[in-house]
Amino acid sequence: MTVKSIRNPDLSVKIGNIKLENPVIVASGTFGFGEEYEDFLNLNHLGAIIPKGISLKPMVGNPPPRIFETEGGILNSIGLQNPGFEDFFNHKLPYFENIKTHLIINFFGNTQKEYIKLARCFNEVPGISGLEMNISCPNVERGGMAFCSEPKIVYRLVHAVRKSTKLTLIVKLSPNVTDIASIAKSAEEGGADAVSLINTFKAMAINVHSKKPELGNVIGGLSGPAIKPIALRMVWEVSQVVKIPVIGMGGIMKAEDAIEFILVGASAVQIGTANLINPRTGIEVIQGIRRYLVQNKIQRIQKLIGLFKN
Ligand SMILES: Cc1cc2nc3c(=O)[nH]c(=O)nc-3n(C[C@H](O)[C@H](O)[C@H](O)COP(=O)(O)O)c2cc1C
Repeated sequence: MTVKSIRNPDLSVKIGNIKLENPVIVASGTFGFGEEYEDFLNLNHLGAIIPKGISLKPMVGNPPPRIFETEGGILNSIGLQNPGFEDFFNHKLPYFENIKTHLIINFFGNTQKEYIKLARCFNEVPGISGLEMNISCPNVERGGMAFCSEPKIVYRLVHAVRKSTKLTLIVKLSPNVTDIASIAKSAEEGGADAVSLINTFKAMAINVHSKKPELGNVIGGLSGPAIKPIALRMVWEVSQVVKIPVIGMGGIMKAEDAIEFILVGASAVQIGTANLINPRTGIEVIQGIRRYLVQNKIQRIQKLIGLFKN
């Protein structure tokens, strides 16, 4: 191994048919539609971008307040507000024509039919590298939660969506379940190319002065550093039972956090809440991972994936 090659380690990873230049992806709902972040970083340097989750029809989301800062994290109850497929296609997608980073579409439906219809719609759209199917949002009354927690339902839903698209299919899992490994296994059996985890934890906060909830929706989802150790445990558990790539997320703020996820088996990571604090986190995590590989004389990031064995 030459000194030169160690200075420039290979960060590329494969998720389904997507070859990422590096394993750092920005997470859905925390990076707008990409454009909002262009003044802060070169989007082309990210491994992939996942814009806000898209439904068939526009959604107005939950009543405000919709974000509340907690110690070590944030609560959000955005409620999957989004412009819907048509507006996304006409007004948000064109921006990505000049971005060479992979675009992965996060989507969800209220029914299986809606999931299938959306998967078919996106299948026809050029410029999309893959789909991330959200079966896990805790902030919507219908759909989300019902889909995420029952292995048989997950299998059926993923299987149906699998048949509706040729794109790389990532299934995004909820942590609000008893046994996330069995849900991941069902997603794999249903035909997922990868699983990503975790989405937010159902949570709430009360203002003791007003005696009212801090979120308009009362219950929201907790994300950020507070959830990292639990997310890591879940990624580790899932990595041991599936053969498909696992994408880890939950409270990643810096390169070391990302490396922890990679060591327990994640092939790639997503940066969520950290983008809201420092929009350049994704870039800094990539730089930090590179530095770590150089310092540890590791030529390819592949060698790091799942290195932790108990
Ligand atoms: C404000 C906000 C909006 C989010 N919107 C979505 C969404 O539309 N679809 C989705 O799958 N996840 C959504 N998420 C979840 C994140 O993508 C991520 O799974 C979660 O926040 C955990 O990662 P983190 O701790 O790094 O933020 C959202 C999270 C936040 C904080």
